Amino acid sequence: MDLLSRYHHALATLREHRQDHLLAFWPDLDDAGRARLLDDIERIDFEQVAKLIDSHVLREPPLSLPSDIAPPDILPNEPAGAKQKQQYAAARARGEQLIRAGKVACLTVAGGQGTRLGFDGPKGALPISPIRNKPLFQLFAEQIRNAGNLYGAGVPWLIMTSPTNDYATKAFLEANKFFGLCREQVVFFTQGVMPAISVDGRVLLESKDRVAVSPDGHGGTLRAIYRSGALERLQQAGVTVLSYFQVDNPLIHPVDPLFIGLHDQARSQISSKTIPKAGPVEKVGNFCKSAGLPPRLMVIEYSDLPEKLAYATDATGRRLFDAGSIAIHLFDVDFIATLNRGGFALPFHRAVKKVPHIDAAGKPVQPDKPNAVKLETFVFDSLPLAERTLLLATRRDEEFAPAKNASGADSVATARAAMIARAARWLEAAGVAIPRQADGTPDATIEISPLLADSAEQLGGAILASDVRVPPGGLLYLGAATEL
Ligand code: UD1
Repeated sequence: MDLLSRYHHALATLREHRQDHLLAFWPDLDDAGRARLLDDIERIDFEQVAKLIDSHVLREPPLSLPSDIAPPDILPNEPAGAKQKQQYAAARARGEQLIRAGKVACLTVAGGQGTRLGFDGPKGALPISPIRNKPLFQLFAEQIRNAGNLYGAGVPWLIMTSPTNDYATKAFLEANKFFGLCREQVVFFTQGVMPAISVDGRVLLESKDRVAVSPDGHGGTLRAIYRSGALERLQQAGVTVLSYFQVDNPLIHPVDPLFIGLHDQARSQISSKTIPKAGPVEKVGNFCKSAGLPPRLMVIEYSDLPEKLAYATDATGRRLFDAGSIAIHLFDVDFIATLNRGGFALPFHRAVKKVPHIDAAGKPVQPDKPNAVKLETFVFDSLPLAERTLLLATRRDEEFAPAKNASGADSVATARAAMIARAARWLEAAGVAIPRQADGTPDATIEISPLLADSAEQLGGAILASDVRVPPGGLLYLGAATEL
């Protein structure tokens, strides 16, 4: 279609939904600008947006939580009793078998805007490891390479970007030669966007030739992976399990045989890991189950958990809703395909944010208070759609230290400290003496390369304790022979 026909088509749609101000600056634009604007407009489903303006922008949708919420069932981190020990050993063996057979792929969701961190670039490019300053993407790539070496099978790595950071993310990984992975092992796909909508229901323009949009939330993963053809490629390659994790957590174990094996044993469609919360209102999602028949696992985001439930305790004073979500999931690949074929829809969540835009005269506006609604779907809202789910407990100090903020809690500094603390624990388990400060924290900066080991167990087999000395206040980098 030529530009003019596209313009008339867009104008008709926009008029129908009272959003034709988006074309107000058409006469000022050259052909390239007109094409950019039409591309943005054509990406938006205005029918859906009109409904959402009614239900989520002009009013706040009522919070619809089931009335019968109960704490979820959780498999323990360490097996309890002989029977469970046997089950876990069999699960681990099964998980290893699946990895060896090429049935497992990893997926990093990296489409977020990372505004809280204030880092200029895709979050995965953030330097984070304590000594070598390896970026997050490098830590994931090296763990995937480590799994390839351990199990003799290449694990595909999918990375979800958003239109805003797609180019920069690909350029970063290419410039770094995919941190040693084969180019073909890394598959990118891009999530969708949603327009930013002023609180009075008008879609905002970022400039005369761009609509103000933002990523549609990590719930967009499940549709984008299907529509991009990436899911079909996985199916054709025989992959059945997708290991999902967020770009912000350097402690993640992306290829975990025990978790994969338990998921497979249970024929689970979505499995998740959980940790005990640090406090009643920690900013993490809360695993719960609706006690109806059949019971369904779900996550209630911290901002939606009623205070009464956050502070509820049992007769012994233990917190009832204490299963924090660390956004680590395994998805059954066929389950995602089935959801898409059935035309599933995840609910939208609204967030009122400060969104810069241009006004009716074309002048830039930098709002000093929240002025617009952003709409996102959350991947964990797919949990209640699954008939079979599984929840496995893990340790915070082993698997969760996200870098979300520029300073304070959940920052680069806390993530680095957690990496050092974990490395120290692994070394101690291998018989190495670690100097410690009065408060118990390691008195040394230690980094273990994922190419050498991604667990205490692997490290124990990779080093001779008598060869490793950690001097008080010193620096110790332990890497694989290939990288030194
Ligand atoms: C998230 C979870 C929270 C969980 C916590 C654990 C939500 C709403 N909440 O919180 O339950 O306890 O992590 O750390 O997710 N992303 C995309 N596309 C998007 C939006 C986000 O790929 O459109 C990715 C980000 O790049 C990031 C991840 O999703 O990897 C998390 O996004 P973020 O918005 O930072 O979630 P949190 O509020 O920190």
